[in-house]
Amino acid sequence: MNEFVHMNPTKLIFGQGTLSRLAEELKPFGRKVLVAYGGGSIKRNGVYDGVMAQLKEAGAEVFELGGVEPNPRLSTVHKGVDLCKKEGIDFLLAVGGGSVIDCVKAIAVGAKYDGDVWDIICKKLYAPGALPYGAVLTLAATGSEMNAASVITNWETKEKNGWYAHFNHPQFSILDPEFTYSVPRDQTVNGIVDIMSHIFEQYFHHTPNAPVQDGFCESLLRTVIETAPKLLDDLSDYESRETMMYAGTMALNGTLAMGTPGDWATHNIEHAVSAVYDIAHGAGLAILFPCWMEHVLDDGLARFKRMAVHVFGIDPAGKTDRETALEGVRALRAFWTSIGAPSRLADFGIGEERLEEMADKAMARGPFGVVKQLGREDVLAIYRLAL
Ligand code: NZQ
Ligand code: ZN
Repeated sequence: MNEFVHMNPTKLIFGQGTLSRLAEELKPFGRKVLVAYGGGSIKRNGVYDGVMAQLKEAGAEVFELGGVEPNPRLSTVHKGVDLCKKEGIDFLLAVGGGSVIDCVKAIAVGAKYDGDVWDIICKKLYAPGALPYGAVLTLAATGSEMNAASVITNWETKEKNGWYAHFNHPQFSILDPEFTYSVPRDQTVNGIVDIMSHIFEQYFHHTPNAPVQDGFCESLLRTVIETAPKLLDDLSDYESRETMMYAGTMALNGTLAMGTPGDWATHNIEHAVSAVYDIAHGAGLAILFPCWMEHVLDDGLARFKRMAVHVFGIDPAGKTDRETALEGVRALRAFWTSIGAPSRLADFGIGEERLEEMADKAMARGPFGVVKQLGREDVLAIYRLAL
């Protein structure tokens, strides 16, 4: 494996009823709290009331930023930054899914920067500092609750950029699986696909001697595959929600990436699609990941065969490595289809029209990919496979 340094300072507070700890956790951070949330799910499922009661108990002066979009937009980040600067906010609290947490990460650094926060999101400069923030997670998917990454869309220029500042982890994240009961079926499926995709992005590489990491990835994947149908059968099954929430956090909190490079090609290719068409991230991944796998299969044959055998239980006897590997990719597609994930860009009315534009966006930072370095023609080929 490669040399590595690992640090994850986020305090993870996990389990039923853990919101009752929020008032105590807020104590070190000052009185003025800006609470950010999305389009209203937290008002319908009672989480908002629970959070407000805790803020009252903490004696906080509360400011609110509602309406954070799925695929959060720069314009909303700007609103939050302005509020922080005008009101002298001490602490940010994200209550929602990955979009709300990502938006808060950008507001946190924007509040400590005199220029436009887009400079940081575009990686023109590294964030000089950040306000502290915490999260109350309501959707198992991105892992944003325990990492320092964020993805923001500039709707004017149709750019969706992932960025990172090593110090920008949540101070704490509260994860009560019951808060995810109200996540509708399609978003639950998107979350499952996103969690599995994060594991795949870290599983596929050429680095030798990573048996511990491989085992973590395979165990997580098998667990998600086993849990998904039970969860989709009963969206309020506590144990399934609990397992999925924990899997989502473990999939992208740095644990799986120790000593190995992530590939992240499919995420880059998907972000270009959701930048142009504003489709859900998990839905885009469900369409594109098996296409990426088919496109790069011969460059990572041993790993794809390993996935087929260790994750999908395919018997390699009497088959070539390529046949086994391909069977694994087909098993993944069949599994995602079985839980109701989309499989074609056409499912969203996306045709040939803007493939070139999306390929340009995906290539904005030059060639990328670890299993195989991808250029513009590769990206176009993957989009065409997905039509
Ligand atoms: O806005 P509200 O009303 O809250 O509704 C949301 C939203 O419509 C709803 N929802 C969330 N919790 C709910 C709920 N509905 C009912 N009950 C609940 N408990 O779900 C919808 C989607 O929410 P969103 O936060 O957008 O989903 P997700 O967590 O999948 O986040 C997606 C965003 O995260 C980025 C994606 O690109 C996308 O922009 N990512 C962030 C990453 C990171 N920071 O590490 C990594 C990921 O790969 C990903 O790229
Ligand atoms: Zn993702």
